[in-house]
Amino acid sequence: MTETNPSTYERRDVIKAGAMATAALAVGNAFAQDKQAEPVAPKPALPPIKVGLLGCGGRGTGAAFDALQADSGVVIHAIGDILGDRVKSCRSNLENSVEYKDRVKIGDREYTGFDALERMLATDIEVILLATPPAFRPTQVVKSIEAGKHVFAEKPFGVDVPGALQIQAAGLKAKEKNLSLMSGFCWRSSLPERAVYEQIHKGAIGNIRTIYATYNGSPNASFARKDGQTDMEWQVRNWFHFLWLGGDHIVEQACHSVDKLNWAMNNQTPLRCWAVGGRAQRADGVGNIYDHFGVTYEYKGGVRSFLQARQWENCPTDNTDYVYGEKGTAFINGWGPSHVIKGESANWVYDGPSKNMYVHEHEEMFAGIRSGKVRNDTEWAVQSTLMAIMGRTAAYTGEVITWEKLLTSTEVLGPAVPAMGEVAVTPVPRPGYTKFS
Ligand SMILES: NC(=O)c1ccc[n+]([C@@H]2O[C@H](COP(=O)([O-])OP(=O)(O)OC[C@H]3O[C@@H](n4cnc5c(N)ncnc54)[C@H](O)[C@@H]3O)[C@@H](O)[C@H]2O)c1
Repeated sequence: MTETNPSTYERRDVIKAGAMATAALAVGNAFAQDKQAEPVAPKPALPPIKVGLLGCGGRGTGAAFDALQADSGVVIHAIGDILGDRVKSCRSNLENSVEYKDRVKIGDREYTGFDALERMLATDIEVILLATPPAFRPTQVVKSIEAGKHVFAEKPFGVDVPGALQIQAAGLKAKEKNLSLMSGFCWRSSLPERAVYEQIHKGAIGNIRTIYATYNGSPNASFARKDGQTDMEWQVRNWFHFLWLGGDHIVEQACHSVDKLNWAMNNQTPLRCWAVGGRAQRADGVGNIYDHFGVTYEYKGGVRSFLQARQWENCPTDNTDYVYGEKGTAFINGWGPSHVIKGESANWVYDGPSKNMYVHEHEEMFAGIRSGKVRNDTEWAVQSTLMAIMGRTAAYTGEVITWEKLLTSTEVLGPAVPAMGEVAVTPVPRPGYTKFS
């Protein structure tokens, strides 16, 4: 959250472990870049593309800067948020940017409230950036595609199965309309990751036997309730901590690692999964999510992949992917060798260029819009989201969850019509007692 400290514009999703040197290189901070003494040489101006931003928090503001950096024709044309202070601070950051202020033309298209989306979609924006908490993503994606806009939607693609399936359907509509539906699963736009997974898919380690992925991070801050704040406002300001809003950290944050498991497996559907999880440090804290998960996904042929994710303070952080094949092992990020394959016959080390993956994903989106060959991430982004929900469901219930069973889930976590008022907090799930629904 950007509540108190603008430096949190750096992406909280990328763990700041020393071992993450490559990621640190790849991940820029658009806000910080804006303050560099040496101005970057301007790119030649392209024809304008009007962009709207919904969700003016840390990631949304960062995404607006990424879009401005990625394409010299991008104009920020409208912004919206349910909270007025977020709209103001985001607008001020954009309008005070030395480098980009000439392409920030918001005028009176600044919208506050739950109807900000509808009001923004009624303008002539061509592209919408959706960076609100995950609970709102399905409805917002569906409405944006219906309105004929190209969409950049942050990850995850929903917090429950019905929501993710809504985005799946919207993705098909987007294809019919040749609209972009781009996800914020940013590692898919990281050049070293692309190169490693390409090697794996080309057979550099033979058939995959096992994958082990970690997303061991620190807890997110929480903000005390202020006088006059409704349940909704207070929960939204603390959205990471509430199951209905963020989907728990396995779905909201470790979904990046789940997505990389899915990437390695070429979008193969897992047959079933089982998991453990709990609330070791958070026992008395705000909200109702777990702080650790361990999940086993089983695939056809007995291939198993393992995910460990936690949000603990005073403990080491780690964000690594290890892909073990019949003929070698790929190490991606994390401790030890990074973007390296150690094989039976030869070793491979990534020595290509590095690029800010957040800007790169926007470069690809706008290039696609300009060429008419739009990027549509729906299939794998929905599957990665569903796999994260599957792991959460297995941990919450203690059951073995098959893919078929997962898809029968009708559980909808949030209120049908969100509004600034009361929102009940559901009890912390308890394995063996919480039922699949
Ligand atoms: N790809 C990445 O590496 C990455 C990094 C950080 C965050 N994210 C994702 O970005 C999203 C936002 O995260 P954040 O860290 O910016 O959170 P944030 O709390 O800083 O910002 C979210 C903003 O959305 C606003 N909002 C909430 N509900 C809304 C609604 N219905 N309509 C309009 N505005 C609404 C909030 O008021 C807030 O300003 C999340 O899905 C998160 O998972 C992705």
